[in-house]
Amino acid sequence: LRLYHKPARNAQFKKLTSSDMEFFKRVLPAETILATPAVGGTSDPVELEGFNADWLNKYRGDSQVVLRPKTTAEVSQILKYCNENKIAVVPQGGNTGLVGGSVPVHDEVVLSLRNMNKVRSFDDISGIVTCDAGCVLEELDNYVGERGYTMPLDLGAKGSCQIGGNVATNAGGIRFLRYGTLHGSVLGLEVVLPDGTILDNLSTLRKDNTGYDLKQLFIGSEGSLGVITGVSITTPQRPSAVNVAVLGVPSYAAVQDAFRLARRRCGEVLSAFEFWDQSCMGAVLHHQQLKSPLASEFPFYVLVETSGSNKDHDDEKLGSLLEELMESGTVEDGALAQDEQQIRRMWMMREGIPESLGKTGATYKYDISIPIPVLYDIVGDIAGKLKTAGLYQSSADPVKIVCGYGHIGDGNLHLNVVADKFQNRVTEVFEPYVYEWVASHRGSISAEHGVGLMKRDYLGYSKPKEMIDYMRRIKAMFDPNGILNPYKVL
Ligand code: FAD
Ligand code: MLT
Ligand code: ZN
Repeated sequence: LRLYHKPARNAQFKKLTSSDMEFFKRVLPAETILATPAVGGTSDPVELEGFNADWLNKYRGDSQVVLRPKTTAEVSQILKYCNENKIAVVPQGGNTGLVGGSVPVHDEVVLSLRNMNKVRSFDDISGIVTCDAGCVLEELDNYVGERGYTMPLDLGAKGSCQIGGNVATNAGGIRFLRYGTLHGSVLGLEVVLPDGTILDNLSTLRKDNTGYDLKQLFIGSEGSLGVITGVSITTPQRPSAVNVAVLGVPSYAAVQDAFRLARRRCGEVLSAFEFWDQSCMGAVLHHQQLKSPLASEFPFYVLVETSGSNKDHDDEKLGSLLEELMESGTVEDGALAQDEQQIRRMWMMREGIPESLGKTGATYKYDISIPIPVLYDIVGDIAGKLKTAGLYQSSADPVKIVCGYGHIGDGNLHLNVVADKFQNRVTEVFEPYVYEWVASHRGSISAEHGVGLMKRDYLGYSKPKEMIDYMRRIKAMFDPNGILNPYKVL
């Protein structure tokens, strides 16, 4: 059974021996090393399970060693040694990635950043925070929150994902609409290259035009060029007034109309505009302890959030938007959160979708960017294909849910197909069809999740050959032995 294409192990990579373990033990404190008896260690292989399997439970490696350094100097020594000895390494943050990039494919050493989790400095005037790469996003948001600021990114995985992993994947998420890409808010990085060189570009300057902006190369490089050990990022003021509403919408065309009007009426305070369909809502209400705030079901739902500094002003703006949307019939029902708890519940309705789908079955995820007007077409298209193939007609069939949700304001759809298990007869219906379809609209086959292992063979659908060639040259320059996150991205 082929769950995914697993490339053959590259025989040039060294298999670990006891002398390699001796080196790791010399460099790292004992409690930061996990190693199984297969490589002369004493850890129970079960302890390494969580590092070998991804969040979707789809990709699985066979690493026997996990290293959890506490300092940049330790990372540097590990990488230098691995490079000299051609030992393959997979950098790992919170292991919440969705494209099989964060787990080993074979026996690569897992280099986990979880012990590097200190805030290094915070500037109260500018809101710039500098921290270790292993800081968990939610903890960082709490830290800056206590000081009147907020992280410029937020995602459902905030409780586990790390800022280094966010930068390595150039994560988007639910605040992208308001605060934009990490390419703009990350001001500096500390990166360890495979040969052990520490690139100290941990700048806290907003403006710095002294030649090539090398840090940009590492943002979104998915652990293929260097290990990010430190991040400096600018954080905006924490909004003092937040409003959230969930709307019931009769059609995808109406979702677009609602978005257009929301931007027009609430432009300067609009902070999120997310959508999901009835199939997602069904899964989320079934698996989370939530009740819909709306009286009936709708083909689509929208979550609209405003964040500002003047509650009366924002209430008035959102109130008149909702009135206009209801009067025009663009929206058929709506509920406005009355307190913090209701705000959290409404967000849970959107953020709980990935987990709810995962609880339903094996989830195939496609994360695509194409022009908004045709974005949702692919959901019906794939559902139709699966029905024609006889795989999605009754409850006895393997496919349980075909659904779409995402960041409509960013032109980013998450098409998900949930089946009883990962299986070829299902995969073959939509791969490579989804990628061909995206390419025909000049879209991106990965809007925000990255390439990882899942999409490396499909990169050509979104990038011309010449660009991929240059990516390969950049990879070869930083990592001539190819030890960093092999088999992924390229
Ligand atoms: P990991 O999963 O550990 O690693 C991801 C990649 O980055 C791997 O290739 C890894 O090798 C590399 N890497 C990690 N740390 C480092 C480092 N310090 N240096 C170099 N390379 C490193 N993504 C979005 O973009 N938007 C969303 O809205 C979103 N929502 C999500 C919701 C849920 C419930 C889940 C499970 C995932 C979601 N994701 C989302 C995907 C994922 O959370 C992000 O990609 C996140 O940024 C990954 O961070 P991480 O620390 O878990 O990294
Ligand atoms: C989201 O927006 O919820 C995330 O990107 C995760 C997913 O696509 O499932
Ligand atoms: Zn997303």
